[in-house]
Amino acid sequence: MIDGFSQTLFERKTVVVTGAGRGIGAAIAQGFLDCGARVVAHVGRGMEHAQADLLERVRDTERDRLTLLTADLSGPGAGGDLARMVLQGLDGPVHALVNNAGTMEGRFAAESVTKAEFDRVVDLNIRSVVELTTALLPALKAAEGAAIVNTSSISATVGGSPGSSLYSASKAFISTWTRALARELAPDGIRVNAVSPGTIMTDFHRRYSSEEKLARTAASIPLQRLGEADDCAPAYLFLAAPELSGYITGQIVEVNGGQFMG
Ligand SMILES: NC(=O)c1ccc[n+]([C@@H]2O[C@H](COP(=O)([O-])OP(=O)(O)OC[C@H]3O[C@@H](n4cnc5c(N)ncnc54)[C@H](OP(=O)(O)O)[C@@H]3O)[C@@H](O)[C@H]2O)c1
Repeated sequence: MIDGFSQTLFERKTVVVTGAGRGIGAAIAQGFLDCGARVVAHVGRGMEHAQADLLERVRDTERDRLTLLTADLSGPGAGGDLARMVLQGLDGPVHALVNNAGTMEGRFAAESVTKAEFDRVVDLNIRSVVELTTALLPALKAAEGAAIVNTSSISATVGGSPGSSLYSASKAFISTWTRALARELAPDGIRVNAVSPGTIMTDFHRRYSSEEKLARTAASIPLQRLGEADDCAPAYLFLAAPELSGYITGQIVEVNGGQFMG
């Protein structure tokens, strides 16, 4: 539950969130539901994580406003296929699209990166995001005041840690694409921004970072702790709500406890 936002902020609005089965995406989807939205949640490749995380968070009274979709986004065409699934279930415009699904796919040493590794990272973190967004643009334009909120990363600016070169560069694409889209889509009334999380304790870091590395990172952060998914979600809601951020577009909002200050 996110305190501080009106429970009617997104009433009668439709929001699409990808990667919402767990981690940051589950917190975002819950936040939109708490604020009255109808949420189309892409929960990942299967339902198992959604049952353990997203559905644990959602209250019974909110379930009728929640649609769950699954899709593997790691291949060419997958973003377009997901868009068709989303559009099939819609009876009106899309007011906000949150592109959140993504991951590092592994730590790959720069000297031995394979074509398959390169393709997996690019297909998931870049291609699927572009495909989904492109296919949903007519539905976003129809909302007359829609918002796109992308998910970049602190690593897009600072370069990440060893083994993350493909991932970090894929997120730099997302940051630059966000600014370019913001300019191009402004005449259509669509604002485009991104949230750039720092080190957030989700399965992402449980998979890819050691406890020692995380402890060192926490000690170096000005606010003296790692982030949580619930630290990130309010920034997405803020950027999606024209009432709160109607004059903000093309911005990357850093949510990192002061770990990086641009
Ligand atoms: N955690 C951090 O510190 C951090 C920092 C900067 C940026 N980010 C970004 O924030 C976003 C959310 O990350 P998170 O920390 O919440 O990670 P997470 O807990 O691992 O969740 C990632 C989400 O993306 C989905 N996903 C991953 N691979 C997929 C695939 N091939 N096809 C479809 N869906 C897939 C996952 O679904 P499955 O359940 O199917 O895997 C899951 O729903 C990502 O874009 C990540 O890069 C995270």
